[in-house]
Amino acid sequence: MKIIDVNLLNRSYSIQVEDGLLASISGLLKQSNIGQKWIIISQHRLMELFGFDLMDQLNQQGYYIDYITVPTGETAKSMIEFNRIISQMIELKCDRSTTILALGGGVVGDVAGFVASSFMRGIDYYQIPTTLLAMVDSSIGGKTGINISEGKNLVGAIYQPKGVFIDPRILDSLPREEVVSGLGEILKYGAIKDESFFSATSQHLENLDTFPFENAIARSCEIKAKIVSQDECEGGLRRLLNFGHTIGHALEAHFGYGQLRHGDAVSYGMISAGWISKELGLLKRNEYKTFKQSILRLPLPSLNKFDPVSLLPFIKNDKKTVSGILHFVTLTNIGSASTNDNVTDNLLISAMKEIQ
Ligand code: GLY
Repeated sequence: MKIIDVNLLNRSYSIQVEDGLLASISGLLKQSNIGQKWIIISQHRLMELFGFDLMDQLNQQGYYIDYITVPTGETAKSMIEFNRIISQMIELKCDRSTTILALGGGVVGDVAGFVASSFMRGIDYYQIPTTLLAMVDSSIGGKTGINISEGKNLVGAIYQPKGVFIDPRILDSLPREEVVSGLGEILKYGAIKDESFFSATSQHLENLDTFPFENAIARSCEIKAKIVSQDECEGGLRRLLNFGHTIGHALEAHFGYGQLRHGDAVSYGMISAGWISKELGLLKRNEYKTFKQSILRLPLPSLNKFDPVSLLPFIKNDKKTVSGILHFVTLTNIGSASTNDNVTDNLLISAMKEIQ
């Protein structure tokens, strides 16, 4: 088992990564079981695939456990669903000692984490991510939240889990396109922090059947854990995790959430950001070429034609634009990133033409 620590003083926790880990969760949580009520927050299909077995396992070990499901997709991250979960928890007689197990992808983790942050002023929760994206990104670092009509994740909190349990074997049950989408985020960690991890990951893309998921997930978590440990509230360093996300989010918003997968949008966003880095004289021409070719080893869906100018408002309204300043993440080399506050609209437009 690989254990990675997120060091945040009294909010520190560890991320545990191991094939088959799901079967040992009752043992791993033993110290935390003080007779309280445990609530799994998940989705119907995930309950059928993993959740009911997990409940059996925990029941057999004397845990007092119940579950709540949310709909699939972004609908789950709504004020209505948030209210419904809270009411259901009251009905189930949950109290301040209740502990949540968030079993699912990013949507489940975000809403369950936000419920944990606010139910009776905050209760404990653990993340059990079931998608590659959630394993390497959203389950770590405590970003929780829901959407409102004005935008995504506009209500939320940074509220750290007590632990993250990652079982890469869960990926066997996912559609291939979903796994591919998560691989974009893995490449991102190499791009911003570890050149040899970037090139090894991209080599492995040649044959996904032999892709070393356990190691790649653990290395991605290590990089994210180190960054979050130094900058929990995204005052500076944590912004680097947004590499590829400025244009990526704009693409997602333009094409429609659920139409273009997050990781695929980020992969295209990384190519654009790499191109901007080259234009700014940061990334050498041949490095950009290698970088782009490496990302294009992913079997990405082709993008329908779009007018880059129409994406600018999404970029301006993004949460990452603070006080009118866009903190755009650029590469100085493959494996090293920094933020740049002087990326012009013209540069953004040309960078988006690069991925057409
Ligand atoms: N997904 C970026 C972050 O957690 O900061």
